[in-house]
Amino acid sequence: MSVKSITEKVLVLDFGGQYNQLIARRVRDHHIYAEILPYTTPIEQIKEANYKGIIFTGGPNSVFDMESPHYTPDILELGIPVLGICYGCQLMAWMAGGTVATAPVSEYGKIDVTVTKPESLLFADVPAENVVWMSHTDYISEAPKGFEVTAKTDNCPCAAMELPEKKLYAVQFHPEVTHSVYGSKMLENFLYKVCECEGQWVMDSFIEDTVAALRERIGDKRVILGLSGGVDSSVAAGLLSRAIGKQLTCVFVDQGLMRKDEGDFVEETFTKLFDMDFVRVNCGDRFMEKLAGVTDPEKKRHIIGDEFYAVFWDEIKKRAKGNAFFAQGTIYPDRIESGNGAGGKKSGSSVIKTHHNQRGIPADIDFLGVIEPLQDLFKDEVRKVGEKLGIPHELVWRQPFPGPGLGVRIIGEITAEKVRILQDADWVLRDEMAKNGYESNLAQFFCVFTGAKSVGVMGDHRTYENVIAIRAVTTDDFMTADWARIPFDILATVSNRITNEVDGVNRIVYDITSKPPGTVEFE
Ligand code: XMP
Repeated sequence: MSVKSITEKVLVLDFGGQYNQLIARRVRDHHIYAEILPYTTPIEQIKEANYKGIIFTGGPNSVFDMESPHYTPDILELGIPVLGICYGCQLMAWMAGGTVATAPVSEYGKIDVTVTKPESLLFADVPAENVVWMSHTDYISEAPKGFEVTAKTDNCPCAAMELPEKKLYAVQFHPEVTHSVYGSKMLENFLYKVCECEGQWVMDSFIEDTVAALRERIGDKRVILGLSGGVDSSVAAGLLSRAIGKQLTCVFVDQGLMRKDEGDFVEETFTKLFDMDFVRVNCGDRFMEKLAGVTDPEKKRHIIGDEFYAVFWDEIKKRAKGNAFFAQGTIYPDRIESGNGAGGKKSGSSVIKTHHNQRGIPADIDFLGVIEPLQDLFKDEVRKVGEKLGIPHELVWRQPFPGPGLGVRIIGEITAEKVRILQDADWVLRDEMAKNGYESNLAQFFCVFTGAKSVGVMGDHRTYENVIAIRAVTTDDFMTADWARIPFDILATVSNRITNEVDGVNRIVYDITSKPPGTVEFE
């Protein structure tokens, strides 16, 4: 469902750039709702949506390669302000008749830029000399007719250009990246001075409007929410509970792939905290049966996703006889990473992982509709909503736990024994991290059952046991992440304890891969 209050929207038109979500996040930081659509979106759709501004993202291609993503130049004639970033900047130049060529010197990293038109709206309150983040091999060798060059660097004669009469602006660098020291200011200038936005995207109005919209849509019907106990579904439960109180039933599917004691924690938290109808369905055996012999990561995800739903459908049938809505805690990145763009449209980005809550819903299921009150939010926005709703801090700031649970942390076939080993190892890690004050200071950490076995020695005996990996990351938005520099002595204690306390493990490795090229989870 969409939220009524989103009257002021900016479109991030995605040309395949790795920072497309970051751009949307930055726009939202300035209190303006941004949505991402692929470059294949028809211009009619863009016209109808009444965007206050459009941002062309970067992308890995060359505009003079006709296979690269292009767009009809008519988009520059809609009267909607446009900001082109990197590839988007070159694309604007190309569309408007300028020349783009391979740069004699590629620029990568922090670069000094000189603003040559200080009175440009884009550069209001930006010093003439500042530092920006560049990453390009092509450049604009000749700006289009009528455009004025507004910034340059030593190796890039057109680092920014504009045609203010048509509200067209473009920058070769990446203002969305924090390394661009005044990047945020430039985006703010574009949004407020060029697009003339007012800044309506605030969490208070989000809650009010969503609650009102939920009440209107649901009326006196029932809602069954799939609750995992993670941040997203908990906040969705909080919102729905505020909107419809006892008409909400939360179904918690314990698929046997939770962390150690997690099922009990979730049950206790939700039955004590909220005055809501809470149902726990223990169905570990059912999941294990379906997963027997399956090793392919996507297949595992699909099976877990399908089984999740199968359980929910049974519950819906049992509880509401088809006369209920189904709700879940899907958030914006789930849709983007699963290739489902805003509004249910397939986006241009490639499918990285199918998130469990993005599987299709079987046609023979009789229910009133799907409710995803957080579908337009990023994780940190979800947390803000959670706090505003009064959901306890520990719950709102809990580490994310993937819907498929330990299923995506066991490489290869999932068996009860592997689940037991992983739960025990992970419990040791969590225990040590909590003792050292890392519980809420790191975005996410967990153990992974790697599926590898290694030779070791214990006492005088040769062992041939399982290798457990520790994964820990720092990240703001989970779209990119760095591996966490956990002090060696903590890692040493964890390693010692796991190999001593957990049967079946004789080696611990530490994952030092960032995202990209890795992902946070192993599968
Ligand atoms: P990746 O592995 O995609 O993880 O870099 C990014 C964040 O998403 C979580 N994750 C999931 N969450 N359902 C979820 O609800 C899923 O299928 C899923 N897969 C990954 C992951 O734990 C991390 O926080």
